[in-house]
Amino acid sequence: MQVSVIGLGYVGLVTSACLAEWGHHVTGVESNLDRLEALKNGGMPFFEPGLSDMVSRHAATGHLQFTAAGTDAVETADVVIVAVGTHDGNGGWQTETMLSTLSDVVPYMADGSTLVIRSTLPPDFIRQVPGLVRSLRHQAGRPTIPAMVNPEFTREGAALRDFLEAERVIFGIIEDPDGHGLAQLTSLYERSTAPVLTMSAIDAAFAKLGSNLFLATKISFANELAALCDAFGAHVDQVVTGMSYDSRIGGSFLRAGVGFGGSCLPNQVAMTVRTAEQAGIPSPLLAAVNDINHRQRLDFVERLQTMSGGTLDGKRVALLGLTFKPETDDLRDAPALEIARHLLSAGASVVAYDPMESARRRSAELVPGLQVVADVLEAVTDADAIGLVTEWGEFLRLDWAAIRALVRRAVVVDGRGALSADAVIAAGFDYASFGRGVRSPVAVPDRPTDRAASRSPRRRHGRQAEGSGREPVPSLRVE
Ligand code: UDX
Repeated sequence: MQVSVIGLGYVGLVTSACLAEWGHHVTGVESNLDRLEALKNGGMPFFEPGLSDMVSRHAATGHLQFTAAGTDAVETADVVIVAVGTHDGNGGWQTETMLSTLSDVVPYMADGSTLVIRSTLPPDFIRQVPGLVRSLRHQAGRPTIPAMVNPEFTREGAALRDFLEAERVIFGIIEDPDGHGLAQLTSLYERSTAPVLTMSAIDAAFAKLGSNLFLATKISFANELAALCDAFGAHVDQVVTGMSYDSRIGGSFLRAGVGFGGSCLPNQVAMTVRTAEQAGIPSPLLAAVNDINHRQRLDFVERLQTMSGGTLDGKRVALLGLTFKPETDDLRDAPALEIARHLLSAGASVVAYDPMESARRRSAELVPGLQVVADVLEAVTDADAIGLVTEWGEFLRLDWAAIRALVRRAVVVDGRGALSADAVIAAGFDYASFGRGVRSPVAVPDRPTDRAASRSPRRRHGRQAEGSGREPVPSLRVE
């Protein structure tokens, strides 16, 4: 089939490449000329494992092309997929981009083609789409076309697999009187082996939204559970394992830590709370999911403060990981950035390392005062505390004995519960994580320069699974 994809952001580019992989002829339309130029020259606007290879393979065969000329591209397409942004980056929806995109492309689409919206849509916007499409077609003197939604469920870092081996595909019907739109969408997904669910557009939009809201709720639940585990000396990993054998519960998305970031989960929770408020519908659960998530970031800073002797002023903190999760260079709503800002405002100097060069560069621009370095050992040298924020594989393989020789004070706060606590403690570090308590090694001599630490009143004997033992830190502020 001939397909046009409007908007080559994360969703649009992954969709374009995967549809080309299935043998369709895809034209990706991008209005940002720098991004377009980069794509034409084999450059990727973001990192996604396997995407660069897939794009260049299909660009070479001509199955995937890029253009700024949306009008031309949609004239010959059987299916036009719109994948433009619908959030304002500030916890609100925005539909201006969607409205202007529809006005630009719908009048030029071939008679008999189908409009497919892949962006996540605000629920009340869906009702406007049929009238809008009909009127744009009418003004152009052309017959109307079917309109469908096809929400995406792609995780960054696993996006190609999530598309090509999806667990389900959802087709939502906005307007499709004779079933032609559904038939075209079915042909588009002919190569997919996933169960296909067809429903109304509003149901499809809520199925997408509901999935992300539920995932966010699971994470905040795990974080609240972890706080209880800390208070009563339980170990959250054991607790979650014990729960996960119940098939009604499962074990995924129950990893406690600094909470969820990225472009989807935080925004969709915040936007839904706001939408519910505007509609006069109470949403206390989702509001709490949001609050807990933000509290985790502050809690992480408090743990670093408590474990580095009660103050961060003048301390050097090494942050491991900047991206919102591993295998991406995405910094949107990345917990590390907010954490770095809190640490800096508490008087710490913060040295961060992330395996992604582009993330390091942009973090330094986004957080004034943040030092970024290109090597993990450089980041930890002379650190008073190490905070792990993103569980990149590189950090899971660190030699903690070697790091112990580099740091000023042996403190690790594991914000993802990802490290081997035993290995870190065996190397002589005090270790804390969410729901894993605070544990210290059997006494080890501090480095000779570390006189302050050796005078520290903290207990340094025996392994403990204590209560959090943390006092609230009044100097820190939740934003
Ligand atoms: C999410 C949805 O998973 C995907 O289906 C949707 O289409 C887009 O939004 P993504 O934003 O790529 O995908 O990331 P995801 O893997 O969902 O993780 C989101 C955040 O939650 C990350 O910051 C991650 O570190 C955090 N997380 C995840 C936890 O804190 N605990 C967990 O148990 C799982």
